[in-house]
Amino acid sequence: MSKIAVIGTGYVGLTTSIGLASLGHKVIGYDLDPAKVEMLQAGQLPIHEPGLGEILTAGIESGNLQITSVLSEAVSEADFVFTCVPTPQDEDGSADLSYVISASAAMKEFLKPGAVVVTKSTVPVGSARVVEDAIGRSDVEVASNPEFLREGAAVHDFNHPDRIVVGARSTEVAQKVMDLYSKIDCPKILTSQATAELIKYASNSFLAIKLSYVNDIAALCEAVGADSQEVLHGMGLDTRIGNRFLEPGPGWGGSCFPKDAKALESIASNFGVGLPLITSAIASNEAAHKRVADRVTDALGGSLSGKTIAVLGLTFKANTDDTRESPAIAVIEHLVRGGAKVVAYDPMVTKYELAGLSLADSAVAAASGADALVVLTEWPVFRTVDSAEILQAMTGNVVVDTRRVLDQAKWQAAGAVFPNSSSRAV
Ligand code: UGA
Repeated sequence: MSKIAVIGTGYVGLTTSIGLASLGHKVIGYDLDPAKVEMLQAGQLPIHEPGLGEILTAGIESGNLQITSVLSEAVSEADFVFTCVPTPQDEDGSADLSYVISASAAMKEFLKPGAVVVTKSTVPVGSARVVEDAIGRSDVEVASNPEFLREGAAVHDFNHPDRIVVGARSTEVAQKVMDLYSKIDCPKILTSQATAELIKYASNSFLAIKLSYVNDIAALCEAVGADSQEVLHGMGLDTRIGNRFLEPGPGWGGSCFPKDAKALESIASNFGVGLPLITSAIASNEAAHKRVADRVTDALGGSLSGKTIAVLGLTFKANTDDTRESPAIAVIEHLVRGGAKVVAYDPMVTKYELAGLSLADSAVAAASGADALVVLTEWPVFRTVDSAEILQAMTGNVVVDTRRVLDQAKWQAAGAVFPNSSSRAV
């Protein structure tokens, strides 16, 4: 059992602190927002993350987990301090390290000799040196332990990771960090700081490239009259390709892929290395958003002016309340720019400020008076909405299902028209 401080209680910080406490460590989570800290101390999660609330309560009750807004309280006894602060995107696409630097500078006077500061935030190659400089103490080590969890599946991913990666200047320090995960059985990589930092970016960017390719192939299927679902299924049976992460959609989004793909592009360009595949994947993703809006426009006779579009789903994927860089929002922006009024329903979003967009509190309410219905997030609950009731509430009958959640045959029988329905995906 080790004493651990976790700086930041966002998605990654919360899962890390709650997860490490569930492994038996004594964890103090820190956040500078007192309101958030109070909520967590009362056992309430500020985010929607399946299963996390239960282990938060268990951690607090067992005494393994405390949350504080006093930095010295979190850090001064800790053997390990995990930094889980945001690394937003700078104007030039690079990752902004200012929170990482200010957190490192703020904690330096409280760190006990021999403590290891572990960066979980996704930081550019070379950031470990920046953290070392910000801390400026020769009796403190710095390690990198990138996080690979998916929102909506964070608890599962914490307990059953595909791998754990720890980078440090010495194998001994990396091993000390890795030992915190001794109860977790998975491949474990001890490496240098730069390698650990790059494994994270290279993985996220590879997945983004894969999804752009999937969306491009799905668009080609549409054009040639092939069934994208069967094409992708057939591809995925090749074990070298794999059948996961092959679902076409309105584009990829979230707080990680768009930011990390641009940051890797920027890192590579700083080192004079071209990464044209990433550049193309980003462009392909923007084209995917526009393709959905174009399909709706074409189906409505070539213009969105004066049209009302019902949208199901605003989050960047299902099982999260996160709308950051959501492809749904990017598509809605295209629709609004084209002159449409958009009314959206999402089971987890009750507020979103965007001119031309209003929110409804049910799928039927969103559909009321709509010329077309567009599904943009794969919420399971959309599978069971009443097609007849929705189509009756609508003025038109065009349905575009970018996530393949609707039973197309059933909807068609109820009168829906799916543009380009020779293949089901956008
Ligand atoms: C992603 C990575 O999957 C995690 O491994 C990583 O730790 C995380 O970023 C991060 O860097 O913190 P996440 O952003 O939660 O996780 O979302 P994903 O589940 O990867 O989905 C990203 C986007 O791809 C979503 O918009 C999703 O709808 C889309 N997607 C995913 C598809 O369109 N098709 C698929 O088959 C899979």
